[in-house]
Amino acid sequence: MALVNYAVTDRVAVITIDNPPVNALSPAVWDGIDQAVQRAVADREADAIVLIGAGSTFIAGADIKVFDTLKTKADSFARSAGTHALLRRMEDATRPLVAAIHGNALGGGLEVAQACHFRVATKDAKVGQPEVLLGIIPGAGGTQRLPRLAGAKMALEMATDGKPVPAPKAHAAGIIDQVVDGDLLAGAIVFAKAKAARGEIRKSREIPIPPDAAAAALAAADAVRASLRKTARGLRAPFAAVDAIEAGLRHGFDKGSERERELFAECVVSTESKALRHLFFAEREVAKVPDIPKDTPTREIKRAAVVGAGTMGGGIAMTYANAGIPVLLKDVDQAALDRGLATIRANYGVTMSKGKMTEEQVEKTMGLITPTTSYDGFDRVDIVVEAVFENMELKKATFAELGKVTRADCILASNSSTLDIDEFAKASGRPAQVVGHHFFSPANVMKLLEIVRGRETSKEVIATSLKLAKKLGKVGVVVGNCFGFVANRMLAYYMREAYLLLEEGASVEQIDRVLTEFGMPVGPFGMQDIAGIDVGARIRQYLASIGQSRAEGPQSAVPDRLFAMGRYGQKTGAGWYKYDAPGSRNRTPDPLIDQLAREEAAKRGVTRREVRDEEIIERITTALANEGARVLEDGYATRAGDIDVIYAYGFGFPRHTGGPMFYAETVGLDTVLARVKAYRARFGDYWQPAPLIERLVAEGRGLYGEPALA
Ligand code: 3HC
Repeated sequence: MALVNYAVTDRVAVITIDNPPVNALSPAVWDGIDQAVQRAVADREADAIVLIGAGSTFIAGADIKVFDTLKTKADSFARSAGTHALLRRMEDATRPLVAAIHGNALGGGLEVAQACHFRVATKDAKVGQPEVLLGIIPGAGGTQRLPRLAGAKMALEMATDGKPVPAPKAHAAGIIDQVVDGDLLAGAIVFAKAKAARGEIRKSREIPIPPDAAAAALAAADAVRASLRKTARGLRAPFAAVDAIEAGLRHGFDKGSERERELFAECVVSTESKALRHLFFAEREVAKVPDIPKDTPTREIKRAAVVGAGTMGGGIAMTYANAGIPVLLKDVDQAALDRGLATIRANYGVTMSKGKMTEEQVEKTMGLITPTTSYDGFDRVDIVVEAVFENMELKKATFAELGKVTRADCILASNSSTLDIDEFAKASGRPAQVVGHHFFSPANVMKLLEIVRGRETSKEVIATSLKLAKKLGKVGVVVGNCFGFVANRMLAYYMREAYLLLEEGASVEQIDRVLTEFGMPVGPFGMQDIAGIDVGARIRQYLASIGQSRAEGPQSAVPDRLFAMGRYGQKTGAGWYKYDAPGSRNRTPDPLIDQLAREEAAKRGVTRREVRDEEIIERITTALANEGARVLEDGYATRAGDIDVIYAYGFGFPRHTGGPMFYAETVGLDTVLARVKAYRARFGDYWQPAPLIERLVAEGRGLYGEPALA
């Protein structure tokens, strides 16, 4: 079967793109479309042309893998001339050319459709220009044709936020000419014949922009830029998309197209784009676990239970209910349940106030959560998620009970963020069924699910967990069972450096500011105030009781002193910051922290100094990457990309850096290694280079295959 097929039906040439799974535009597909359109134009048997996708979609865009072959800006600029000329040839077809869209018309897919004379779509189809999410801009005329079809305001919105637009909305905006009920191809053929009968052809590039609309559009471009300065700090692509659209508004289609090519070429070779493309594929790669074949049997999860109605348990119950899965929510007494349910209701209240759910939807969803203080009904559930307090004995006791009250095939998952799940497995008496499902706070919002594989967890349970993660709207990443798994094991090093920098002379505000400027949604101290200082302190206490610590090196006593003062963060109205009231998010710096840091620095003989912003980034990212490399070498993560996905989704590590491992590679593994050695000389032997990094540097290789990223 060819990638692009040609047939004539009822005097309409039907060109079908057949490049599974998503009809991405590889060079051969571009050529195939080009040749087929020219063939149709010359075909005496055809009065009109329909372009349609085989399988489940129209075209999901250019083949993203091909961008890796564009090594320089000049190379990319030169190559795009061919694409632009091809689309112009299509648009110059002398018979009506109709795009018939189902599934998705994204990126280059929508640009191909824009170069057709008309577009029809199924009601559930989506169209979008998601290029900015890959660090690029529409590069096949989208910045020029879309404003002419949909108006500049909508084009600016679509090209800068990258979100797909449903067909009915696209129809109202003028992107789609007709929404087809029933069979798409049949509808498209009728539409095309009608256009042919009337001799109608409409070239998007020739749609005029009236002067008053152009003036309003320029103002809209300025407004979008102003808002991007707040929402897209540190990014280039969204601004480049606005520039390209603006160039077309000011100077016309041809000059605008040339500017688009220049800006696309600049973006496609940028680190921002390489990083975002890396994450695109890494996100899809995580679902592939080397020893769990695709055909591993999975179980359907129809009913669930959560033990523990605290912050995490409540959020997990919401996650199940949001996915339409009925869930029992158990806690020890009615008071604890009432508190948990009140928090859940308050969370849904916020969602409702933002217009994201109606009252009816909230009631229906909450109706799926059944509170209980007993194990009644646990024999009917397919999975239990344990979310009790982070305490080994308590968790073991819970698993021992769960082993008795659930069916033999029920999955027993633990939301522990650190502890050894093999201990729970042993306690349950059913180790093959036990797995870690580590959600991130707030569990109903954060997209990451660490799926922790115990020594005896069955393949079926892992495969089911991966499928379930998708159903719950999460990205599931399988990790090994070490203390803190991947996310929190590395986080201990991130936090160690934050605490030490504080003692050395940086302030809470400086460190949080520097990390948010780097692109984190919240700095380490702000994050801890949200998560609760008590959580980390209790884990440290537990570890101390078994003679361990989370990360080598000096342990700052400041967080434990805050814990001892009852300053647990936002919930108590004070933590690393002062808050207006318990639960409030309005914070102000607290001079007390500086005083505590001074005292602890003095005790450790640390001379306080001014800490540069760059040092904060360097220390923290180096600590993360060095530990990440150890996690990788120890086999607790499958690929460096899995760690990147974990950090992007679990902690909001800036996507445009590609994640902590990809970032290290862009900085240069040799630089990372040199920094670790310099820190060892400066601070002590607790800084040790990860052997994997030493080896890769010696061999001139990178974390993602060979050679090291340029
Ligand atoms: N290029 C190459 N491969 C692609 C691709 C693309 N544009 N889009 C999807 N794929 C691959 C995925 O990597 C995956 O491969 P795998 O099975 O080997 O892991 C497979 O297709 C299926 O994809 P998903 O798992 O993502 O399938 P879903 O059904 O969940 O989602 C989708 C489908 C919504 C189309 C989603 O794949 C998607 O968002 N794709 C990217 C869309 C995009 O960004 N398009 C713009 C590309 S850039 C461009 O067009 C530039 C132009 O302006 C010149």
